[in-house]
Amino acid sequence: MNTAGRLYGIGVGPGDPELLTLKALRLLRSAPVLAYHSAADRESIARKIVDQHLPGNQIEVRFHFPRALEPEKASSIYDQEIEPVAEHLAAGRDVVVLCEGDPFFYGSFMYLFTRLSEKYHTEVVPGVSSLMACPVALGVPFTYYNDILKILPAPLPPDILKRELLTSDAVAIMKLGRHFPKIRNILHELGLAPRAKYIERATTTQQRIIPLDEVNPEQVPYFAMIVIPTTSRL
Ligand SMILES: C[S@@+](CC[C@H](N)C(=O)[O-])C[C@H]1O[C@@H](n2cnc3c(N)ncnc32)[C@H](O)[C@@H]1O
Repeated sequence: MNTAGRLYGIGVGPGDPELLTLKALRLLRSAPVLAYHSAADRESIARKIVDQHLPGNQIEVRFHFPRALEPEKASSIYDQEIEPVAEHLAAGRDVVVLCEGDPFFYGSFMYLFTRLSEKYHTEVVPGVSSLMACPVALGVPFTYYNDILKILPAPLPPDILKRELLTSDAVAIMKLGRHFPKIRNILHELGLAPRAKYIERATTTQQRIIPLDEVNPEQVPYFAMIVIPTTSRL
């Protein structure tokens, strides 16, 4: 008989604690162990989203995947970081991993999935992604009919960003942070700035929607997105 615990990666949505699926809520409340990504000095966003739903008697495991590392170095650090999760699973305890937005959409859960899902029974529960939440919070219908939507990470080089922006009907630009000035310049250069909408921390109590040219580049958080909705109308 397999007595190992089960691994669940659950999407907890973009920030509003009510944007959680019923399945995620059930798993979240019943698992003996919760795990989530967080830097040593920072509160986990995913943990904060679910705080009001927790029974208060669960074991909590934090892990941290540093960004901007060479792939080989990153991989061995990730192996170490997930070790406590693997130990709980091996000891027969189910582990729910909290993921901001959706687990398979640029989610840190994927690093656990690739390392643990062949050994332990694993289930993934989709979440409301920022890709869905930001256009809704901005009040802009995003794509119609056969529109081509592209998702562009802001750290990409300018030539790739320009090429992709020029061949899309609608665009979401993610991971802005310090890349914001480069993106704003490109949008002006391509004549897309008038259509571009900026939003940060969508659906949270700190949500801000700011006209593109009034955004202070020194204060753009990582959890910010530029949405360029389609010009189609049906
Ligand atoms: C590592 S990705 C994680 C995406 C997440 N798994 C999802 O489904 O939304 C982080 C990027 O998602 C976007 N993002 C996530 N939550 C957001 C929010 N509440 N408001 C604005 N952007 C958000 C930002 O562009 C951020 O840089």
